[in-house]
Amino acid sequence: TICRTKQQLRQALEERRKQQPGLTTGFVPTMGYLHEGHASLIRRSVAECDITVLSIFVNPLQFGPNEDFDRYPRDEQRDLALAEENGADIAFLPTVEEMYPSKPLTRLTVDIVTDRLCGASRPGHFDGVGVVVSKLFNLVQPQRAYFGMKDAQQVAVIRRMTDDLDMPIKIVPCDIVREPDGLALSSRNVYLSAEERSQALVLSRSLAKAKEIGETATMTVQGLIDEVSNHIRQSPLATIDYVELLAYPNLTPLAPTELLADIHGELLLAVAVKFGRTRLIDNRILSFS
Ligand code: PAJ
Repeated sequence: TICRTKQQLRQALEERRKQQPGLTTGFVPTMGYLHEGHASLIRRSVAECDITVLSIFVNPLQFGPNEDFDRYPRDEQRDLALAEENGADIAFLPTVEEMYPSKPLTRLTVDIVTDRLCGASRPGHFDGVGVVVSKLFNLVQPQRAYFGMKDAQQVAVIRRMTDDLDMPIKIVPCDIVREPDGLALSSRNVYLSAEERSQALVLSRSLAKAKEIGETATMTVQGLIDEVSNHIRQSPLATIDYVELLAYPNLTPLAPTELLADIHGELLLAVAVKFGRTRLIDNRILSFS
């Protein structure tokens, strides 16, 4: 079922819930131009829930003034085919006017978790994500919602939001899906030229190498960040936005001089790198102790 208005969505959900009381709803929010990463979330939801709702909405609130909202790639027909193939029951594709009849005056900020990484380099981004995801949660009323670890900070923000606000929704993090050569799938990969695409491998390669380097006995937090940064700088087309190593899952900073071997628990190594106008992100969870 394809729903373009909130009313159609509520009706489609109500019908199914009337037919089968107590059914569980899984929800996969996306901005479309779907790829195998999105498909993996849909399949996981289909496997775990009675019905799966997919939303496709390029949310203007989460894009900065100089970002790619206007050129964000779109292909509705292909997306709908992929959604159906993977077993989604309801696709919700609202227009901007349908979602935001007027500019929302309500703001949703998750502090601390958004201090670093994309929260720092894209001001206001996670406020926009918080508002749209809250609206979508209220419309769909899922028991479970599926998010990719490609956007590890987004998972942390949504988790904290649902905890803080007592939203009765289980947030399910899903593994990053990669191309055979290691590049993390992203709708934005289509922006890359052939040369940029080949140099973009530096993201996943530097993260993989970091795991080995980090096992060196005397390696510090800053030492690992420098190794990764230097590796990325060897690609002439790459411009680093950030390379950060934080405690996971709290996303709190570590002392730069701390030895990795002394840190107990998991770490998030996350990178954001620009190739021309295209900004790519990738990350890996590490533990050395
Ligand atoms: P979008 O970038 O379309 O991503 C939708 C979901 O797919 C997110 O949970 C994202 O982490 C996941 N995803 C993307 N690439 C992936 C990959 N290679 N492997 C696994 N999962 C991947 O994230 C958004 O949209 C928006 O911020 C949204 C949550 C929809 C709010 O507007």
